[in-house]
Amino acid sequence: MCGIVGYIGKREAAPLLLNGLRRLEYRGYDSAGIAVLNGALSVVKQKGSVGDLENALQESGERLSGATIGIAHTRWATHGDPSDRNAHPHLNNAGDIALIHNGIIENHAALRLELSSHGYTFNSATDTEVLVHLIDRMWKDEPSLNLEGAVRRALRHVEGAYGLCVISSREPGTLVVARKGSPLVLGLGDGEYFVASDAAPIVEHTRKVVYLGDGEMAVVTAEGYTVKTVENIETEKLITELDFELGEIEKGGFEHFMLKEIFEQPDVMHDVMRGRVRLEEGRVRLGGIEDYLDRLKQARRIVICACGTSWHAGLIGEYLIEEFARIPVEVDYASEFRYRNPIVGTDDVVIVISQSGETADTLAALRAAKEKGALVMGICNVVGSTIARETLCGMYTHAGPEVGVASTKAFTAQVIVLYMLALALSKGRTISHDEIALNLRELTRVPEKAARILELDSQIKSIAEIFKDAKNFLYLGRGYNFPVALEGALKLKEISYIHAEGYPAAEMKHGPIALIDEDMPVIFIATRDSTYTKILSNIEEVRSRKGRVIAIANDGDQEISSLAEHVIYIPQATGPIMPLLTVIPLQLLAYHIATFRGCNVDRPRNLAKSVTVE
Ligand code: G6P
Repeated sequence: MCGIVGYIGKREAAPLLLNGLRRLEYRGYDSAGIAVLNGALSVVKQKGSVGDLENALQESGERLSGATIGIAHTRWATHGDPSDRNAHPHLNNAGDIALIHNGIIENHAALRLELSSHGYTFNSATDTEVLVHLIDRMWKDEPSLNLEGAVRRALRHVEGAYGLCVISSREPGTLVVARKGSPLVLGLGDGEYFVASDAAPIVEHTRKVVYLGDGEMAVVTAEGYTVKTVENIETEKLITELDFELGEIEKGGFEHFMLKEIFEQPDVMHDVMRGRVRLEEGRVRLGGIEDYLDRLKQARRIVICACGTSWHAGLIGEYLIEEFARIPVEVDYASEFRYRNPIVGTDDVVIVISQSGETADTLAALRAAKEKGALVMGICNVVGSTIARETLCGMYTHAGPEVGVASTKAFTAQVIVLYMLALALSKGRTISHDEIALNLRELTRVPEKAARILELDSQIKSIAEIFKDAKNFLYLGRGYNFPVALEGALKLKEISYIHAEGYPAAEMKHGPIALIDEDMPVIFIATRDSTYTKILSNIEEVRSRKGRVIAIANDGDQEISSLAEHVIYIPQATGPIMPLLTVIPLQLLAYHIATFRGCNVDRPRNLAKSVTVE
C-alpha cells in the first residue's frame, strides 16, 4: 500500500508526478504529497486525495515549476493518523533531504529514541520519518559519502519493509531508490527515468521497465541508472517490456473502474482461456506449469494460500481440484499459514493466489512453503510481480490491470485458471478424455453467459435501490456457491460499509438464523444443482421468520419466484461452472448499493488494493 512515484529527466517533474499519483491512488488515498528539486527542495503535502493536492498546488504551483527531478507519494496510513504532517515526503531537519516510503520500519521506536538523543526533532508520528533523519545522520558522520552511500548505510540499521525514494539538494541530479518487501519498478525512457510502486504510472511514457528485486537499490540520474544490492554488490537486471495499454488503466466511459472491470469480465474470460483451452484436442495447455505437471499430479496434498477475494477463489479451487483431480486440498489464509508452523513437506504443493502478486502475507506464506521444501506455484494477475517471480512455476490470470480496490474480474479469472488447472491435474488419472472435453466446452460458453448476466444490470440496480438502506445482509449458498456467498458479502462490506455475512446455507440454522427478521435481506444463491431442494428448504426457513429473500436462480425456475421477493435469473450451467456466473449479479448488487449510498466505490475507506504490509 502507499503509492510511490519518482521522476528524473528533462521534462517538468511536477505534472508528471501528479499524473503518476493519480494512477497509483488505488494503493492508498488518505494523504498525498510531492517534493521537487529546483536548487532547493520544495514540498507540498496534505491530508486528502491527489485531487486535493492538485488544488493546493495551484496556489503554490510557481514554487514547483521548472524542476526536472522529484518524488511524490499517496499514503495508506499505518503509523500516525492521516494528516498533513504525517503525509509524505518527509524531510530531515535541515530540509535538504526528502524521502517517500511504502512499508513499515519495524524498529522505528528504537531508532527514534536514538536519533532524538542526537538532537533530531520529529515532525510526524510516522515510522518513515526516522529513515530520513537516519540518512542525514549517516551523511553527517561521514561527509565523504554521497547520497547513495548515506542511504545504503542507513538501511543497514533498518528492520522491516520498504520501498523508498530519496532526493537531496546536496546532490541535485540523483534519485536513490531501494526495496525490501515493497515493490518498485524503474521505467526507462529516453533521457528520463521513472520510479513507481507499479507500472501503471510508467506505461504512458515508456514500455521498458526494470523490476527491482528485494534488497536492491538503484541510483538514477538523467544519464542512466545502476542497480546494486543494499550490500553494494552489482546485480544484472533484465529489461522487461510492459504488456498492457494505457487504455486498460483508464475508465473508458464507465463511471467507476469497478463497473468497467465488472463489464470487462466476458472479454477477460476469453483472454484467460486463449491458447490454453484446446477444444479440438479436448485438453488444456498450461505453459507456465507444463514442466512441473507430473510433480503437481503426484502431490500428496495441495495447500492454497491467499488473502481476501483471492482466498475465496482458492476455496472454489479446492472444490474443483478435489472433484476432478481427487487430490486433497486445504485452503489457508496466508496470514495464518505463515505463522502457524504448518506441516508442509517436499511432496506437498503450495499454490499462492494473488491479484497484485505483492500481498505481504501471501508472499511470506510462499517463502515459508519454499523453505519447507514444497513445490510452490503462483496464480497472479500482475506480470512480473514479486510473487510471480518467486514461485517455481505458475499461471497468469491475464485479466489486465485491475484498478478498483474491490476485486472483480481478477476473481473470475482466478477461478477459470483454477478450473483449467483442475482439469490438467485430472488428465490421464481421474476423469476421462470425454469428461475433460465436456468441461472445456462448458467453460468456453461462460463468457457469453456472463455477457447475458450483465444485461440484467438495470434490474439489479432497482433491487439495489430497494435495499440500499439495510443495515445487514446475509448471503447463503451451498457447494460451489458457498465461496460465492462469502465473496458477495465481502464485496458489499468493502464498498458500501454495510455489515454482511456469507455462510453455507445449511449452517444458517446454527446461528445466523437468530438474526433474521423483517429487516434482514437474505441473498440465496439457489441455482439448480444437487443441493437445490435443500436450499429451497433454507429459503422457507427464512421466509417463515419474515426475512426478505433475494434469489439468484436459473432461467426458467418458476418454483423460486413464489418463494423469493426478488429473483435474478441467470443462464443454466453445471455446478462447477456456476461460481463464474453467480458472482456477477452479486458484484453488480454491491456496486449499485454502494453508489446509491454515495460511497467511493473505487477507493473505499480504509482499504487499499495492494496490501504490502502485514
Ligand atoms: C486487499 C484488497 C482485496 C484483495 C486482497 C488480496 O485486501 O482490497 O480486494 O482481495 O487484498 O489481494 P491480492 O492482490 O493478493 O489478490
